[in-house]
Amino acid sequence: MQRTLVLIKPDAMKRRLAGRILTRLEDKGLALVGLKIMQVTPDLAKQHYAEHVAKPFYPELEEFITSGPVVAICLEGPEAITVTRGMMGKTNGRESAPGTIRGDFGMSRQLNLIHGSDSPEASDREIPLYFSDEELVGSTDGMVGTFFAGDEV
Ligand code: GTP
Ligand code: MG
Repeated sequence: MQRTLVLIKPDAMKRRLAGRILTRLEDKGLALVGLKIMQVTPDLAKQHYAEHVAKPFYPELEEFITSGPVVAICLEGPEAITVTRGMMGKTNGRESAPGTIRGDFGMSRQLNLIHGSDSPEASDREIPLYFSDEELVGSTDGMVGTFFAGDEV
């Protein structure tokens, strides 16, 4: 089982797309193990996008990612990182295939709606930037099993 860090970015929030994006990820079978709405600070942006801080587009990226609230999500599932990246589509919405989140909802390279960790090393680094251990549930599989097995629910 693998975990990944997803952000629903400020452009998606402004466009009221958070629920639809989350629904797609849940419909696929990925389990929610962490979820909150929050404001990314410039400091957190620099940590999150450490690999991009020195690039020419970084100031614009920081301005964008701190421009409004995001939904931070930790998802769990088999190959959750690759599965989520596949559902996101390519970085540039114009190049993303129909059926992907970026392909279906966007036309922009920067305002691309969603972030997803791109490797196990990235998810190991990114999840603690957004969630403390106490904010993540152990596993949703046990909860579902217990719920459906109960006689008096
Ligand atoms: P993330 O999941 O957000 O990391 O996107 P990604 O992995 O598909 O792309 P990448 O890590 O290369 O870039 C991070 C983010 O920076 C992108 O999602 C865009 O929002 C933005 N970005 C990437 N390349 C450019 C660029 O050339 N110009 C501008 N303005 N923004 C860019
Ligand atoms: Mg990236």
